[in-house]
Amino acid sequence: MTAKAPVTTIDWENLGFDYMDLPYRYRAYWKDGEWYKQGLEEDANLVINEGSPALHYGQQAFEGLKAYRTKDNHVQLFRPDRNAKRLQDSCDRLLMPHVPVEMFIDACKEVVQANEEFVPPYGTGGTLYLRPMMIGVGENIGVHAAKEYIFSIFAMPVGNYFKGGMVPTKFLVSEYDRAAHRGTGASKVGGNYAASLLPGSKAHAAGFSDCIYLDPVNHEKIEEVGSANFFGITKDGKFVTPKSPSILPSVTKYSLLYLAEHNFGMEVEQGDIYINDLDRFAEAGACGTAAVISPIAGFQVGDTYHEFYSETEVGPVTKKLYEELTGIQFGDRPAPEGWIVRV
Ligand code: PLP
Ligand code: COI
Repeated sequence: MTAKAPVTTIDWENLGFDYMDLPYRYRAYWKDGEWYKQGLEEDANLVINEGSPALHYGQQAFEGLKAYRTKDNHVQLFRPDRNAKRLQDSCDRLLMPHVPVEMFIDACKEVVQANEEFVPPYGTGGTLYLRPMMIGVGENIGVHAAKEYIFSIFAMPVGNYFKGGMVPTKFLVSEYDRAAHRGTGASKVGGNYAASLLPGSKAHAAGFSDCIYLDPVNHEKIEEVGSANFFGITKDGKFVTPKSPSILPSVTKYSLLYLAEHNFGMEVEQGDIYINDLDRFAEAGACGTAAVISPIAGFQVGDTYHEFYSETEVGPVTKKLYEELTGIQFGDRPAPEGWIVRV
């Protein structure tokens, strides 16, 4: 069966990355070791106890993935098992229960099906963004893990995360740290993003798309972007991306590492990228679910501005990777085994 047609009340060509209250969201409730109630709900608001550890101690984790409408009008998810597993890792770090992978994927499908008219039309570049989240709730005041949890997935149609999408923009190398090596940087938890709000707002106010964070020990190596991973294409054509215990293991980054190596025969490397050695790169980009691939025009590092490929043009390798990745996501190009899940 093909998917329901998109509603005609939304300007699909001009979507940004903004909240929208869609008709249905999925919720599951956990207590005494089990998920005891689950299904679709209509109310966008949650009523939780004022002592909930999610509110005081940041005991929460979230995910981000997308549903894509294909040319032949089906809807599909991109590697939802990877998001399910990463949520489990985040939950382990914050002492929260697991959502089984199958339950996670079924819940994603249920939310997409229920809101199918809000999956943007093929060809507009828009997608339905899914935001799964886990929160620790219930009566509490000491610094303890919650005794009750809510797992929820809500959705909204989105377009570009960074202004203009596939056009180069500038990033500011931040004076702040995002996360510590032995902290929660590799977990997708709200605290990391709370820490990035002030640096991010300073970067935006100064005209940059986002921050680039450096390693929190010596501030010599690139870690990642506030909302995406970093990659560079070296002058001799290698795909290079940072390796660090405090960056988020990006599903998009691992997908690009695979595609660069297997589909394009490129050399790939996860390693140290020194901020004083940017001349080795011909191109650079930010990659993530929301960011997709966003080309980086240049970095502001203190008083110095370093330009990568161009202020206005997208580099050829970045373009090639973007076309391959989005081609797979929208069903136009063959996907490696297991990457696509039909809704
Ligand atoms: N790094 C950070 C800090 C992010 O918020 C995201 C977004 O999810 C990413 C990287 C990219 O991860 P993914 O490709 O799994 O969306
Ligand atoms: C994502 O890409 O899914 C993110 O979570 C990034 C951002 C919106 C925080």
